[in-house]
Amino acid sequence: MKGFVMSFICPDKNCNKCPRLLEFREVNKDKFPCYYNGAVPSFGELNAEILVVGMAPGLNGANQTGRPFTNDYAGDVLYPILKNNDLAKGTYGKIKNDGFELINVRVTNAVRCVPPQNKVIGEEVKNCGVFLLDELSAMPNLKIILVLGGVAHNAILSILGYRKADFKFKHGEKYKLDKHNLWLIDSYHTSRYNINTGVLTFEMFDEVIKKVKNSLTK
Ligand code: URA
Repeated sequence: MKGFVMSFICPDKNCNKCPRLLEFREVNKDKFPCYYNGAVPSFGELNAEILVVGMAPGLNGANQTGRPFTNDYAGDVLYPILKNNDLAKGTYGKIKNDGFELINVRVTNAVRCVPPQNKVIGEEVKNCGVFLLDELSAMPNLKIILVLGGVAHNAILSILGYRKADFKFKHGEKYKLDKHNLWLIDSYHTSRYNINTGVLTFEMFDEVIKKVKNSLTK
């Protein structure tokens, strides 16, 4: 994405911008000393054309493995469907060093540290927005941002300065972000809750990924 100066892409693993998340990390370090327990860096190459933005690491998923969506139920939906659409290769083995590779895709989160009860608060999204903006700035070929859920949708609009009223979150919707020459595509989050309740099905998510791929050529 053009128009911003790249400074830093990733918060320090021990980032301490959010008191609540810091406190939770300390609890988890005691409880799960073998877990990653830090700000989880993005996964995939910076020269990708597609950025997938989730909400935040899961306690026993990305917070354990240190890679977004890895060992999270949400990753069991996301990664195989990316692979079925030739946007990933290798075996998704639910660990960081499984050799699984993304193709033309990078995956990140609106908030990079695991939140208590899997819920982020506005201040945390705002604090972490600095890193999200840097992420976009450091992706020279970025064309499409696929947001998983409303938190990621709103995080992108606010860091790029668009009015939420003009871009309502709607599953399957595709918005042009004119000022930045980017597409914003909305999907329900691939969470276990959404799948179990039928809000999102594997087929619906596959359709979204196909829409993302088709948008690359437009
Ligand atoms: N794991 C992540 O890394 N992000 C999410 O949004 C959910 C699970």
